[in-house]
Amino acid sequence: MNAKTSAGAGNTWRDLPAAQQPEYPDPEALRAVIADLESYPPLVFAGECDQLRARMGAVARGEAFLLQGGDCAEAFDAVSADQIRNKLKTLLQMGAVLTYAASVPVVKVGRIAGQYSKPRSKPTETRDGVTLPTYRGDSVNGFDFTEAARIPDPERLKRMYHASASTLNLVRAFTTGGYADLRQVHAWNQDFVKSSPSGQRYEQLAREIDNALNFMHACGADPEEFKTVEFYSSHEALLLDYESALTRVDSRTGQLYDVSAHMVWIGERTRQLDHAHIEFASKIRNPIGIKLGPTTTAEEALQYIERLDPEREPGRLTFIVRMGADKIRDKLPELVEKVTASGATVAWVTDPMHGNTFEAASGHKTRRFDDVLDEVKGFFEVHKALGTHPGGIHVELTGDDVTECVGGGDEIFVDDLHQRYETACDPRLNRSQSLDLAFLVAEMYRDQ
Ligand code: PEP
Ligand code: CO
Repeated sequence: MNAKTSAGAGNTWRDLPAAQQPEYPDPEALRAVIADLESYPPLVFAGECDQLRARMGAVARGEAFLLQGGDCAEAFDAVSADQIRNKLKTLLQMGAVLTYAASVPVVKVGRIAGQYSKPRSKPTETRDGVTLPTYRGDSVNGFDFTEAARIPDPERLKRMYHASASTLNLVRAFTTGGYADLRQVHAWNQDFVKSSPSGQRYEQLAREIDNALNFMHACGADPEEFKTVEFYSSHEALLLDYESALTRVDSRTGQLYDVSAHMVWIGERTRQLDHAHIEFASKIRNPIGIKLGPTTTAEEALQYIERLDPEREPGRLTFIVRMGADKIRDKLPELVEKVTASGATVAWVTDPMHGNTFEAASGHKTRRFDDVLDEVKGFFEVHKALGTHPGGIHVELTGDDVTECVGGGDEIFVDDLHQRYETACDPRLNRSQSLDLAFLVAEMYRDQ
């Protein structure tokens, strides 16, 4: 990796308008931070990004399923062993459910180790007559509702790097150091079984997996694949100063990679075709996601393919569709039809969260589990009707027993929301709701 060469080629976006960027009061301080970031070692290896691109190729071709999930916004004060383990455990449990119950290889990608930056619909927030700039994620400003906290501070970009590094380090230790060994399927559920219907259902499935493993062991098979888990990091590539400071030339291939994560995506608010984010994404070789909201036209989708996947390489481009449960069945068919007719093989993934947010009477931003499920159902129905592959789910979840979304088997009611409402941004599925969703998605996948 060569930091110096990266400065030019990864910076072509600077000539274009970039939405959702912080306005730093001291540009000199920002420049100093960027110079520091450029000197830091990569968080991921370019070869790993290639490997994920190959895995996403299998998703695009219909041979694998993507499970992508994690917080809406990670927070610096939540970089703790417990919180990271709980998130990972939830994703591993969901992965086990999907792999076993749907009999499909599952590509596991966290919204983790870098998901610190948030696009916002409004630039300011007003409480009790006081108006301040909105919170834009721990990488930009502070969550506290004070004038000082809300001033963008470039030093936070360095904290994002270090928080990402320590998170990823622990994730790598867990996933390769024995914790993710399939013989641990019960251990991931330990503190959970008795308290929840989904935990009990999981326990039954874990027993079946155990039996299968014992049978294989008795036959003399003990595959290495069962001992570790391939797990990848991803986040929204929002802050282009940060992302381009971590963009390096890969010494093996001479190509640019954003080594802040294995996969990055462009959000609904920054996907303008002639703006900076798409330009930046077009220069890097990582697998790229684009969020597609309900206003996306088929023409736009085809232009994303032209710009980001000119070689038509399955795995390079993932469309993460977030229409809303009431729109998915209307809006998605034309996009899938025209993209398929163009000959491109993209991965289609459903984000059933961001089109289904509403404000409860209590003032909490929330989502109904049933709406989330209905959007996933609509996504599967559309693909079934067109004979295309429903490639995966992208969800906001946490491993903690929060009360942020309503519904689920262990039902959360609107009146419960205040009990453990901890998100720094959007409402997340808790562990029980996440497992419920995994079981239901596995059924849909099996029946398609
Ligand atoms: C998000 O993923 O948290 C997000 C802001 O999504 P979108 O860009 O789809 O609104
Ligand atoms: Co969100």
